[in-house]
Amino acid sequence: PGAPALDTRNRPLHDLRISVTDRCNFRCTYCMPRDQFGPDHAFMPHASLLRFEEILRVAQAAVSLGVRKLRLTGGEPLLRKDIEKLIAMLAQLRTPQGDPVELAMTTNGTLLGRKARALHEAGLGRVSVSLDALDDAQFRRLSDSDVSVATVLEGIEAAAAAGLSPVKVNMVVRKGLNDDQILPMARHFRHTGHILRFIEFMDVGNTNGWNLDEVMSGRQILDRLCQEFEMEPVAPGYRGEVAERWRYADGAGEVGVITSVSQPFCGDCSRARLSPEGRLYLCLFAHQGFDLRAVLRGGVSDEDLRAHLAGIWGQRDDRYSEIRGRQTLASPKIEMSYIGG
Ligand code: GTP
Ligand code: 5AD
Ligand code: SF4
Ligand code: SF4
Repeated sequence: PGAPALDTRNRPLHDLRISVTDRCNFRCTYCMPRDQFGPDHAFMPHASLLRFEEILRVAQAAVSLGVRKLRLTGGEPLLRKDIEKLIAMLAQLRTPQGDPVELAMTTNGTLLGRKARALHEAGLGRVSVSLDALDDAQFRRLSDSDVSVATVLEGIEAAAAAGLSPVKVNMVVRKGLNDDQILPMARHFRHTGHILRFIEFMDVGNTNGWNLDEVMSGRQILDRLCQEFEMEPVAPGYRGEVAERWRYADGAGEVGVITSVSQPFCGDCSRARLSPEGRLYLCLFAHQGFDLRAVLRGGVSDEDLRAHLAGIWGQRDDRYSEIRGRQTLASPKIEMSYIGG
């Protein structure tokens, strides 16, 4: 007991991303296009979702196998009823060495203004907030919602004020669509202590109409930043960190670039993903998950659950972004809105 789990490529299981709902109050065109996620879309019924006690058991088993970071995602995780209760439960988890586990959330920020303090009090450590544009009209178009940029910015400030920091701000960059927002976003978040991260547009899911022409590479994004700012590289914070880190030479703070298309990082990928109804996926681009809910509801013991998880991770071979090509593009995948990125 206590020995960390390794997959077939010797990658440890370090990170568990837990999607708590498939619902969202946005309809970002690349994630939940309204023509496919309209008023008639059948979201998961509540009874299908893992209960908090069941999520806790999976997290506990994962922590015993080496997981040191839990991240709540969605859809929009703040739409899950009583999410603070789940956070309070997860915050009690300890590693075999007796240390607490890092607890983070990826959210669209609309409900943070209202909820940030309660989330922090429940034990949440920090948040990443998605924001693809600073221009209001453009933001409303991209998120296909009538939420204003100001609401999200207020959410970001509320999170930082509540101690959910550093706040990371995720911007998915699409060439010709919102790349004109790179510099305005950079200017806005300099000197705030928040970390802006530029994300290459990925071919996740089956509905986002992905096209390589729309990918702006991390290199191109950085070139754009360097037109206005002097940038210096920062060493990675830990093995398998997703973002490449850069800082403003004038001390105004740090940014990140996530290059999963132009420079895949599967070699160090230590992430497993749990879907809202309890399927475990070993890659963001996986087609099939492992049904943990059936195992949980079959009355498995903690010890057997742990062994089951170790067995699944031990067989893992996924490295989609490294082998992306004609064939992989055509293969069916899980939806981003379902697994939370
Ligand atoms: P921290 O470094 O802990 O702050 O978090 P993170 O960067 O792992 O999480 P976040 O949810 O903010 O993810 C940022 C972006 O990176 C999202 O677009 C994710 O889809 C993408 N991403 C995260 N993990 C992976 C991964 O394993 N594979 C790929 N291809 N993309 C990933
Ligand atoms: N490519 C890159 N990032 C994406 N996200 C959603 N869809 C994509 C995509 N196709 C981002 C969200 C959020 C994070 C979890 O994933 O904007 O910030
Ligand atoms: Fe919702 Fe995030 Fe998907 Fe946008 S990207 S629709 S905010 S889950
Ligand atoms: Fe990990 Fe799959 Fe992303 Fe590669 S493509 S980094 S294996 S989640």
